[in-house]
Amino acid sequence: MAIRSPASPLLLEACLLLSLTGRLRAEPCIAVYWGQNGFEGGLREACATGNYKYVLIAFLNQFGGGKTPQMNLAGHCDPNSGGCTFLSNEIISCQQRYNVKVMLSLGGGGSIYRLTSKEDAKEYSVLSFPCSSFPNTDYYDDLVRYLKAYSTAEKKVYLSAAPQCVFLDAYLQATINTDLFDYLRVQFYNNYCQYSPTNIATFVQKWNQWTSTSVGKVFLGLPASPAIVGSGYVPPEELVNDVLPLIKDSEKYGGIMLWSRYCDVLNNYSARVKDYVCPGHRLYSISSTLVLSSSM
Ligand SMILES: *[C@@H]1O[C@H](CO)[C@@H](O)[C@H](O)[C@H]1NC(C)=O
Repeated sequence: MAIRSPASPLLLEACLLLSLTGRLRAEPCIAVYWGQNGFEGGLREACATGNYKYVLIAFLNQFGGGKTPQMNLAGHCDPNSGGCTFLSNEIISCQQRYNVKVMLSLGGGGSIYRLTSKEDAKEYSVLSFPCSSFPNTDYYDDLVRYLKAYSTAEKKVYLSAAPQCVFLDAYLQATINTDLFDYLRVQFYNNYCQYSPTNIATFVQKWNQWTSTSVGKVFLGLPASPAIVGSGYVPPEELVNDVLPLIKDSEKYGGIMLWSRYCDVLNNYSARVKDYVCPGHRLYSISSTLVLSSSM
């Protein structure tokens, strides 16, 4: 499968996680999509870099309407023949050893999914992740209610959505309005509201709109390399020196979200920005000589 951006506003991720303590090193604040390119390396390997706090497995691309849920993990393995079961251990290793929250991403570019009723939403929430044509987010609000109902003190269910930066989101708004989301990872690329030096006012306006919602934390969604995504790539030194100062003071700023692990491998993006992107970190300026090689 070709490399895809999570182009749709349809992503909805959810996860169960084990929260572990005890790591002394600074927690990373980067979320990354993994699963849509066989050349990006393994899941455990991504977790082991220490660069990510969240890995979003992309995608559960078929669910709803009585269909058997199916995943697409590009060249990694074939889920439909049971070829991906080894990932269970990798997920556990990510959670327990590397303290990474692994989330499952529903939908995504070119997916086939549609919840056809509230009952459908309920059934899928029981299966863990359920759902048809694109874009279709009917009954997602029901789905997230059912999912959240599984949350307990011991096993918290985290919900995350990846809307486009346009506010309100055309597809996900009713779902977001459930106020059940822990994270919004807003896609500030391939859109008029993405950052550019000549678009600061619009960018900041959209950021402020998203952070004034009731969600827990908002992440700045960016391409990790200029090679793949149409527009909206922000070079590391520009992110640190020019963009983060505009948004990092928001109480709801949570970090950045990257599309994708593959792009990150190509461009070494997360390694170059991870010391600067966490909330509360002092802003340092990053020398442009460090990043000259990144311009592709
Ligand atoms: C990636 O960036 C980090 C931080 O700047 C650097 O230490 C490392 O050598 C880089 N890796 C590659 C493969 O360029």
